[in-house]
Amino acid sequence: MNGVTGRMGTNQHLIRSILAIVEQGGVRVSGEEVITVNPILTGRNEIKLKALAERTGVKQWTTNLDAALADSNNQIFFDASSTLHRARFVEMAAAAGKSVYCEKPTAITYKDALRLAKVCEDAQVKNGVVQDKLWLPGIIKLKALIEQGFFGEILSVRGEFGYWVFTGHEENRPAQRPSWNYRQEDGGGIMVDMLCHWRYLVDGVFAPIKSISCFAATHVAERVNEQGQKYKCTADDSCYATMQLENGILCQFNSSWTVRVRRDDLFVMQVDGTRGSAVVNLRGCKIQTLEETPKPVWNPDIKQPINFYDGWAEVPDDVVYDNAFKAQWELFLRHVALNEPFPYNLRSGAKGVELAEAGLRSTRERKWIDL
Ligand SMILES: NC(=O)c1ccc[n+]([C@@H]2O[C@H](COP(=O)([O-])OP(=O)(O)OC[C@H]3O[C@@H](n4cnc5c(N)ncnc54)[C@H](O)[C@@H]3O)[C@@H](O)[C@H]2O)c1
Repeated sequence: MNGVTGRMGTNQHLIRSILAIVEQGGVRVSGEEVITVNPILTGRNEIKLKALAERTGVKQWTTNLDAALADSNNQIFFDASSTLHRARFVEMAAAAGKSVYCEKPTAITYKDALRLAKVCEDAQVKNGVVQDKLWLPGIIKLKALIEQGFFGEILSVRGEFGYWVFTGHEENRPAQRPSWNYRQEDGGGIMVDMLCHWRYLVDGVFAPIKSISCFAATHVAERVNEQGQKYKCTADDSCYATMQLENGILCQFNSSWTVRVRRDDLFVMQVDGTRGSAVVNLRGCKIQTLEETPKPVWNPDIKQPINFYDGWAEVPDDVVYDNAFKAQWELFLRHVALNEPFPYNLRSGAKGVELAEAGLRSTRERKWIDL
């Protein structure tokens, strides 16, 4: 597990996925068989690695990635380092014949993302990219509704993602995201970050995206980094995207690190269809059928007589949902150990980078871009 002293690596991948799998005794695949995991942490900084290993009880760690890759006991290479470093690490792991699993985006240009997919394919190593949103309870509920035909014909989808990321200027309120996120030269930008998610989410839940019209903005010009120094923001912190799908559905997704939240959660998505609508957040899903749909009349002279929050029913939790990252990890482990299908590979991850690149081009050229 490489680059896991960072935010995503430590919390989602090491603690909530791999150590949770260790804790539950591995991934049971039959009455007699269990896939077990035994992590080794790799990275540049000995002090940080040692501290993380001690804090989490992981026995093995090293700053010598070459040696870890040369060890035949280590079968999977996972990378959660910052995006610009990914390619070099993936290439090393593929050359060493390891199965490769990594965070998104796999690269910041479509060309590089495709090249990395090909590197793994040519080396004939199994490979995968994190596409965690597909296993969010809210999204699992939404997929079930679509399969049941709840919506009739789906007309449009509106997604709202974001929250206020502190700039670091206020005393005692440091930024809650790494500063490289706001510097293009370091692989930052919300477009390359979030459009990767929207690609696999929209393609996987609704229909393939046909084209995109997008505007990216850098609303906050200056932030303060981890060392307390001011820096110029060179990457987009907000992205306003409209996408047409191959089946005619229209999707609008706003993604922003410069908004305050007054909605159910950090991500909320509304799906409107001819027979019903749903509002999905990370864990929940509320639905309104055509029969329950109120019939409002525009009249600003009186107090609104309808409470629009009524008339929606919560889809019940009928199973216990696992952490989304862990759910995908288990599928990848099964793919490696049992050869089960795993469509979330580097080639599919590259499509996310393709969408981000198209979004940036749309902003620059002020026009629709077909994928
Ligand atoms: N799936 C998601 O929802 C999601 C969310 C946020 C970030 N991410 C992705 O996860 C990755 C990490 O993001 P983060 O927010 O955890 O960033 P971070 O800055 O907190 O962590 C980056 C990690 O990479 C390490 N690193 C940097 N350069 C390195 C090098 N040369 N060699 C070895 N290690 C190096 C750092 O020490 C740190 O451990 C990014 O690619 C990001 O796009 C994914």
